[in-house]
Amino acid sequence: MVARALWLTVRPLWFTMLAPPLYPSDPVLRLENVTLGYGEFTVLRDISLEVLRGQVVAMMGGSGSGKTTLLRAATGQLVAKSGTVEVFGQNLAHADRAKIESLRQRMGVLFQQGALFTDLNVFENVAFPLREHLHMKPAKLLERVLDKLNAVGLRAAAHLKISQISGGMARRVALARAVVLEPELVLYDEPFAGLDPISMGITARLIRHLSDKLGCASIVITHDVAESFAIADQVYLVGQGVMKAHGTPATLGTSADPYVQQFLQGQADGPVAFDYPETNAFQSWLAMQRGQR
Ligand SMILES: Nc1ncnc2c1ncn2[C@@H]1O[C@H](COP(=O)(O)OP(=O)(O)OP(=O)(O)O)[C@@H](O)[C@H]1O
Ligand SMILES: [Mg+2]
Repeated sequence: MVARALWLTVRPLWFTMLAPPLYPSDPVLRLENVTLGYGEFTVLRDISLEVLRGQVVAMMGGSGSGKTTLLRAATGQLVAKSGTVEVFGQNLAHADRAKIESLRQRMGVLFQQGALFTDLNVFENVAFPLREHLHMKPAKLLERVLDKLNAVGLRAAAHLKISQISGGMARRVALARAVVLEPELVLYDEPFAGLDPISMGITARLIRHLSDKLGCASIVITHDVAESFAIADQVYLVGQGVMKAHGTPATLGTSADPYVQQFLQGQADGPVAFDYPETNAFQSWLAMQRGQR
């Protein structure tokens, strides 16, 4: 409390004018009682979570449970049906397009289908966000990009075409691109997808390393229990349209909740849903199909 009062007193005037007052230990991302969905289809309801600076948070859940939907809410691509979404202390419901764009520049995103630009080489793929958003001198840009490629072990692959690198290397290039603007929050959507067990371990350690080095917060959306538990400070588990559980990897590991246990142990039978739920839209589509035959 004392530290907070001191910060509020001594922070420079320009800081107050330029940015919402964000105390260093304030959450980088905060969701409170948020409901998310598409049209009439509600994917998640009553979701609350907090991500602090320096934390690696794993967001887990079965396929179709709403993890990517949560990412879209955090980046302002999807407006919450109800509840509060705050990024860097700014309520997204009160932010216009320009404000959301400026908040987006403080975030790095590794998209689930994070395709690289195949007409650009490795270097230019990573340099792309810098060229888009910052006016850097060429020598400085070169050093920044090489530094990020170095962090993912691909400094010497800078000149290669995308068609000349493997799938796992492409994932690492996308990782370097996600952090090249040195963001305060990085969202990784399925960073381990399609990687062999060794590359998975290396990528997980890399995410932890980048978080610690840049001092940013990281959200890792994944199905992979072993890799995410090894690096996460906090784990959130979504399922059945709600937040089923959250805590440290250790507390979640000892949870008696059957849903948590089925998910963590990858069992085929249990409460984790496999079938996509039937909606009114599906029923009308089916009725139309049957009517046509
Ligand atoms: N643009 C969209 N319009 C309508 N429904 C959507 C849209 N995007 C996703 N959905 C639906 O929202 C639900 C959650 O999808 P989401 O992509 O968030 O799941 P996920 O947890 O990321 O799954 P996965 O692990 O397979 O990537 C799914 O039922 C999906 O069909
Ligand atoms: Mg997804």
